[in-house]
Amino acid sequence: MQFFCLELFPFLVLLGVSLSFLVCIGESVIELPENDTIPAVFVFGDSIVDTGNNNNLKTIFKVNYPPYGQDFLGGKPTGRFSNGKVPSDLIAEELGIKPLLPAYLDPSLQAQDLITGVNFASGGNGYDPLTSDLASVLSLSDQLEMFKEYIIKLKGIVGEERTSQILRKSLVTVVTGSNDVTNTYFGSPLRKSIYDISSYADLMVSSGSRFVQDLYGLGLRRIGVFGLPPLGCLPSQRTLKGGVTRKCVDSYNQMCQLFNKKLSNELTLINGILPEARMIYLDIYNLPLDVIHNPKNYGFGISNIGCCGTGTIEVAFLCKCTCSNVSEYVFWDSFHLTEKAYRLLVHQILEQYMKDFICEKPFC
Ligand SMILES: *[C@@H]1O[C@H](CO)[C@@H](O)[C@H](O)[C@H]1NC(C)=O
Ligand SMILES: *[C@@H]1O[C@H](CO)[C@@H](O)[C@H](O)[C@H]1NC(C)=O
Repeated sequence: MQFFCLELFPFLVLLGVSLSFLVCIGESVIELPENDTIPAVFVFGDSIVDTGNNNNLKTIFKVNYPPYGQDFLGGKPTGRFSNGKVPSDLIAEELGIKPLLPAYLDPSLQAQDLITGVNFASGGNGYDPLTSDLASVLSLSDQLEMFKEYIIKLKGIVGEERTSQILRKSLVTVVTGSNDVTNTYFGSPLRKSIYDISSYADLMVSSGSRFVQDLYGLGLRRIGVFGLPPLGCLPSQRTLKGGVTRKCVDSYNQMCQLFNKKLSNELTLINGILPEARMIYLDIYNLPLDVIHNPKNYGFGISNIGCCGTGTIEVAFLCKCTCSNVSEYVFWDSFHLTEKAYRLLVHQILEQYMKDFICEKPFC
């Protein structure tokens, strides 16, 4: 079972912008400085943010069949690992750019779609290249190569100068690492026998560090990197390691916190070295933990099982039936959140961090 844990949870997002101009989209209000804009959104990572890239790969890590997407545009399964939209869509939506963030590998992608951003994420991905290999999905280097190809296409559409401006001003989100912890590290002996928790977290961080520096080298500046959520509280991990009462697994949560500290320190360091970098660590540990412990405070009823199947272990093709009222649930399956929960998190992250993306050194 463990083989399927696609990543997880929630959270993402970022973006930013700052101060004088209000852009209202639906209920969201994001402040942008005068004459500043976020022209495009780019997302890299795993199943939390994949909007269908895996549909075009030979992997079992795909969900382009019901009940996935049951609440997406009238019930359309698109390869999103949720009942509806995922954080990549919600970021683009909140910023007023477009309602959905298309997968780069979507065969129906149009030139116009490229100008406002696309998604390179692939369910099952990790910082550790072994994680993506085991799942036969796109590694971070694969996603980087696709992004280089994207840049060439964009130049062909809007020209060299506008391309570099789009890249500099766009909002980038990197969301991965959950599969490394649950699948590759704790779920198999492959890494545990060689790395202790701290040195494996270091391996993950150094991969992430190289990745964001490569993105910077290609012209991106505003880059938000999600930390890890409290993976020990995923329904699947409670079932596998939480004992008969299915408690949150403390050792997993501790590893997530250790990784988060290391990641956040590394991004601070990179920001100090790269002159125009706005690399922002995005915390998705604390709010999700509070939502899980106090679901009623946030309009949810159930946070220890997912909506699909028994809620305790099912993911992907094991999801057959679903709960009667998905609005009550924080988790859609035993690994991923519902659109309602993603929406809460994305909105909070954008509000919290937008100013950090927008500000220009040396005033930050
Ligand atoms: C914004 O752009 C307009 C038109 O180009 C210009 O007149 C104005 O001074 C700019 N405002 C700022 C704060 O740069
Ligand atoms: C489903 O749950 C939501 C959230 O608790 C609630 O507002 C709604 O009334 C419920 N719908 C039904 C049909 O019970």
